[in-house]
Amino acid sequence: MLVTGATGRIGRAVVDLLTGAGVPVRALVRRAESAATLPAGVEVVTGDLTAPGSLDAALHGVGAVFLVWTAPPQTAPAVVDRLAAHARRVVYLSAPHRTPHPFFQQPNPMAALHAGNERLIAATGLDATIVRPGMFASNALSWWAAAIRGDGVVRWPHGAAETAPVDDRDVAEVVARILREGGHVGGDHVLTGPESLTQAEQVRIVGDALGRRLTFEEMTPDEFRNAVPEAARPAVDMLLAAWDAATGRPAYVTSTVTDLLGRPARTFRQWATDHAPAFTG
Ligand SMILES: NC(=O)c1ccc[n+]([C@@H]2O[C@H](COP(=O)([O-])OP(=O)(O)OC[C@H]3O[C@@H](n4cnc5c(N)ncnc54)[C@H](OP(=O)(O)O)[C@@H]3O)[C@@H](O)[C@H]2O)c1
Repeated sequence: MLVTGATGRIGRAVVDLLTGAGVPVRALVRRAESAATLPAGVEVVTGDLTAPGSLDAALHGVGAVFLVWTAPPQTAPAVVDRLAAHARRVVYLSAPHRTPHPFFQQPNPMAALHAGNERLIAATGLDATIVRPGMFASNALSWWAAAIRGDGVVRWPHGAAETAPVDDRDVAEVVARILREGGHVGGDHVLTGPESLTQAEQVRIVGDALGRRLTFEEMTPDEFRNAVPEAARPAVDMLLAAWDAATGRPAYVTSTVTDLLGRPARTFRQWATDHAPAFTG
């Protein structure tokens, strides 16, 4: 099985789970030195999704591919064609852009990218399963850890916006389960955490996990937009629109993690407790 995005949040956890289950894994990395961060026994092959010809060695002899796409869309048609020439199955990490909840229906270049990749995959006739997580719980680290390590005041917009953060480990477990079991052809799975929480509540829960009272200080959307570098504006506008649409209504919550794994989805509190050291280290 070939795991792409193998150094990233979900791909890395999928590598660990498959390796732990004794499944032979090949990991795609862009830089050979990334091999040092992967578990022993994983076959590491270099390649880049923006250079389709660089993927042949990684794809040679694989049966299934876990595809994570964070690259620009231009090379996707050539990559998906190559993938179909070698493999029989693909599990694609997408997003819930088809879910008719306002949070997922705002202007969003990532949604367009994922929809395009899904069309390409469908056109190949590959046995495909699409996994669509909502907000990753781990976004809390990239968003709030710096402020928490600093003065403990999280300045953030749309504190009342509700999301249902899904634990990255649950996403990876679902992916690994599908890869190991086979089947699931045509499966289309929206994964969320088990509860709808406002962003301010999520910050409070991180504080509980740290044994500290954190302050949530509401920023206006304009203050937030102006505080980020120009290059980050498209992503920030996407988030601001989604949070605005999510305010005043519960987040979309599915039972898919439980249905597929036979146990409850991890709560955000569980995620925060398990990752508390990462907010202070
Ligand atoms: N964040 C969320 O809340 C959320 C929610 C739903 C869906 N998603 C989707 O999840 C995906 C990201 O997953 P993630 O968070 O696990 O990824 P991540 O942590 O951002 O890591 C990205 C991975 O892709 C690799 N990569 C980047 N560009 C590449 C290229 N040109 N060729 C080959 N590999 C490349 C990176 O390798 P290097 O180590 O070489 O950089 C890294 O392993 C995105 O498609 C996103 O839309 C995210």
